[in-house]
Amino acid sequence: MNALEGRQISFSYRKGTSLFSQVDIQVGQGECVILRGPSGCGKTTLCHMLVGIIPRSISGEIKGDILLFGQDIRTLSLARLVQKVGVLFQNPDEQLFFPTVEDEIAFGPENLCLSRKEIGLRIEEALETVQMSAFRLVETETLSYGQKQLIALGAVLALQPAILILDEAFSQLDSFSTQLVKGIIQAQKKMGHAIFMVENSEDHLDLAERVYEMHDGRVWEVAL
Ligand SMILES: Nc1ncnc2c1ncn2[C@@H]1O[C@H](COP(=O)(O)OP(=O)(O)O)[C@@H](O)[C@H]1O
Ligand SMILES: [Mg+2]
Repeated sequence: MNALEGRQISFSYRKGTSLFSQVDIQVGQGECVILRGPSGCGKTTLCHMLVGIIPRSISGEIKGDILLFGQDIRTLSLARLVQKVGVLFQNPDEQLFFPTVEDEIAFGPENLCLSRKEIGLRIEEALETVQMSAFRLVETETLSYGQKQLIALGAVLALQPAILILDEAFSQLDSFSTQLVKGIIQAQKKMGHAIFMVENSEDHLDLAERVYEMHDGRVWEVAL
């Protein structure tokens, strides 16, 4: 079974102005799939659909089905959804909401009503994975851009989703953070997790099993 599947997805923000249509995508377990395409073609919009931000927070006209491990995304509660799929965007400042690193990472697990012990373990593990354990009590605002992106990723990983969406998440990272995140993606793949990554740079093709191209409202697979 595919971890992530889009079947004949079409979307428009306003009636009569289609952004893309009849999009079919699949990401298998343990697979990393890259989506590339020109600015403004709808890549971020597609990511928003795959994690439920559309239609939960942003509305539009949707057709087709999105399946997470075979389950229709529309049937999932928010709590189940965030444990299945996590997303990292380009700009961590849009994704960080709390004064300290610990608060940021704790927020997701706390909302799942996990035990104190489990929440503590999740925080420790997430910080270890992104190599930011020493920054646990630090104020997020004092961190560098790359460090903030690592914390945003840590907050996602603390929910242990089996599908990760990265929307140009590398674009402003320094080389240390880039290598670290690439290592994390490799480890996630080994765990059988699925990665869907919007990425125009050729530098990260080594991570991918398959590549899709988006253009003029269509998506198709290209040979690697
Ligand atoms: N919330 C929104 N409401 C209306 N139009 C939007 C919204 N978000 C993005 N768009 C428009 O949809 C198009 C695709 O945007 P986006 O998905 O961000 O493309 P990409 O990520 O490929 O650069 C753009 O023309 C953008 O202006
Ligand atoms: Mg985008």
